[in-house]
Amino acid sequence: MKRIPSGVRIAAALAVVAASAALLTACDTFSTTTVAEQDFVNELAIPPLADSTVEDGVRTFQLTAQEGTTDFPGIGDAETWGFNGSFLGPTLRAERGEQVAFEIDNQLPEATSVHWHGMHLPAVMDGGPHQMIEQGETWRPTWTIDQPASTLWYHPHPHGETEKHVYLGLAGMFILDDDASLAADLPSEYGVDDLPLIVQDKEFDGAGQLVLNDDGSEPGTLGDTVMVNGTVGAYQDVTTERVRLRLLNGSTARTYTFEMPDRPMTMIASDGGFLDAPVEMDQMRLAPGERAEVVVEFEPGETVRLRSSKTDLGGIVVPATSGGNDEFDVLEFRAADTLTPSPEPTWPQAQDAVADELHEDEASVTRDFVLNTREINGEQMDMNRIDEIVHVGDTEVWEVRSTQPIPHSFHIHDVQFRVLSIDGQAPPPELAGPKDTIYLNPNLTYRLLVRFEDYADPTMPYMYHCHMLLHEDEGMMGQFVVIEPGDEDKVRAPEHSEHVDDSDDAVIGGHSGH
Ligand code: C2O
Ligand code: CU
Ligand code: CU
Repeated sequence: MKRIPSGVRIAAALAVVAASAALLTACDTFSTTTVAEQDFVNELAIPPLADSTVEDGVRTFQLTAQEGTTDFPGIGDAETWGFNGSFLGPTLRAERGEQVAFEIDNQLPEATSVHWHGMHLPAVMDGGPHQMIEQGETWRPTWTIDQPASTLWYHPHPHGETEKHVYLGLAGMFILDDDASLAADLPSEYGVDDLPLIVQDKEFDGAGQLVLNDDGSEPGTLGDTVMVNGTVGAYQDVTTERVRLRLLNGSTARTYTFEMPDRPMTMIASDGGFLDAPVEMDQMRLAPGERAEVVVEFEPGETVRLRSSKTDLGGIVVPATSGGNDEFDVLEFRAADTLTPSPEPTWPQAQDAVADELHEDEASVTRDFVLNTREINGEQMDMNRIDEIVHVGDTEVWEVRSTQPIPHSFHIHDVQFRVLSIDGQAPPPELAGPKDTIYLNPNLTYRLLVRFEDYADPTMPYMYHCHMLLHEDEGMMGQFVVIEPGDEDKVRAPEHSEHVDDSDDAVIGGHSGH
């Protein structure tokens, strides 16, 4: 991997920013979008639900990470990567309480990993950079689903290569159900009125191949082609009055602001499950890695588009260079002349939610995380350094702040957190539900309430990092272990398969909060 000292890269980025600022003032008619106009002529692909076999109460899925060729209509055949296919992966689905197991074959030309974004699970099953699957090998993680119904996702996490692996197509949805979600009156027919929508932007070269252009733009490659589930210019036929959209920003760098014309989107769930109460939204900002479930209503016979409008990136030097001024259509809905009535939506009642609730007065530890120049708290990711040591059972407050006018987002593995406040203010309702990833407006302090319930393991860390994948690859990541109190002396960074000299003693940089 190309290593550019972060200082140099940032300086270059700021120069680009300054140059485009000059351009913007010089030229009023400068197009504010870098995104191409689309014709919406291709039926939306719906990722298939993954097959699974159940034996002795264990639900087993098979995934193969593989190379392939994908025909993007109007663009041509591109070399891509996918799970069980050439691009993206099947939708995984399981219920709370079920034990799941996976056989993951790596048929790629290089090592990869598969991380379960948003999942509460043991660190050795997490699929981060310490669980590499070498070329030709098979990884078999297993755990019990122990969290509320939600829309999660899975993607590779090889250190320094995550952007490329995700960008080439390795990503899929992981839907969790529970008793409350199954009992709720919500649109729930997969692919019909319950739609997985993996939104990604891509850049193609003249030969129709995917390119990651390393041009110093921040926070990474912003593609001029937007696709949903791998379909460019996608339309979806609507046959019911209400449709539930499971929106996943599966982009590597682009933040979207979704909206529908003339109607609110009723947001029912954030990253980690249902909101306490649904909230009507005119617009919804989603940064890479974030999800939202919304319900929208349609009139018979209408054609409407899901759009992404200008995005308030919050105090970014020149929003245009980070995609903030881009406006484009994402997906066209074509409602049939007669729509099947949808039941009046009901939302899951709170019993499950109460058990999963977090209480600020239980927080015993506060930790600070400052994001700047590809570093968190002044350090770049080191596979051999444990940055934070957490005691199992503890509730903590993580205070996170980006001190740089560049888009960053913050993701924590293993947990769903609650946003206590943003610069002292209560979070808006869409950020008040369970979250695992959050966009950081520069220079605001995000106080996150997190509980580390179980799975103590002093020798296998979880990650926290910026989910702008270029930033993550360039070192904006740290490692935390969850341990039994008193096990401090057992904390070690794991020996990972390659590139580690045995004489290199693991460094423990951990502080236990304050
Ligand atoms: Cu979506 Cu650490 O990842
Ligand atoms: Cu994750
Ligand atoms: Cu970042």
